Amino acid sequence: MSLLDQIDKNRLPKHLAVIMDGNGRWAKEKGKLRVFGHQNGVLAVRDTVEGAVQLGIKYLTLYAFSTENWNRPKLEVMALMELLVSTISKETKTLMENGVRLNAIGNLSSLPERCFRQLQEAIEKTSGNTNCTLTLALSYSSRWEITEAAKTIAIKVRDGELNADDITEELFSTHLNTGDMPDPELMIRTSGEHRISNYMLWQIAYSELYFTSKLWPDFRREDLFEAVIDFQKRERRFGMISEQLN
Ligand code: IPE
Ligand code: IPE
Ligand code: MG
Repeated sequence: MSLLDQIDKNRLPKHLAVIMDGNGRWAKEKGKLRVFGHQNGVLAVRDTVEGAVQLGIKYLTLYAFSTENWNRPKLEVMALMELLVSTISKETKTLMENGVRLNAIGNLSSLPERCFRQLQEAIEKTSGNTNCTLTLALSYSSRWEITEAAKTIAIKVRDGELNADDITEELFSTHLNTGDMPDPELMIRTSGEHRISNYMLWQIAYSELYFTSKLWPDFRREDLFEAVIDFQKRERRFGMISEQLN
């Protein structure tokens, strides 16, 4: 049976989050510069997006650049920003063909002007697409996002728009960058690292975590299918016991 045939289309994760890791090591293995790994990571992004659309996954969120990644050597940061600009402009066509709506989360105002503009342009162009929402987490960190949400809520309470007693988990969630998305049900990290690196700490409270040793530039839709098959074998208990789940 093919990988695709093993997947139950009625039990797909609505939201899949990915930590795309291992570009640098992939390049190093080949005796190349780290940037070569990032360039080849783009192919993995394209295939993963197409695989997600093929399955019918409605939300795909890719961790592309963390707040902490600003601390990398200046040359690498610049190369990543350049790659972002060229990739977004080149890939908009593929997004349109696949009916993918582009979205972004993170401290977008910290991106170079050209990057920000290119991103906004692609977001607007794809805004009518409905097959899948592809969110890029850029200059993103979860602690930043949570702190920003807390600040916004505090200002609303100060200005009398909100009572402190009205602050619930649901209300807090709507103040996060991901406010209009369901929480990820599945989170994949490539490269063999077993950590979250400041990604969606609030949203992954009950996500299934899937780790693969594949380096990101080698990741393809078949790897995504394998992760989904693994996800579908798991029992998600949400604090209850097996017998309580129908
Ligand atoms: C992931 O690959 C891409 C970004 C974080 C931008 P890395 O660049 O972290 O590659 P490794 O982990 O050093 O191999
Ligand atoms: C996490 O990868 C961030 C992205 C994939 C964009 P890192 O390579 O930055 O994470 P650490 O430093 O290994 O935790
Ligand atoms: Mg890394």
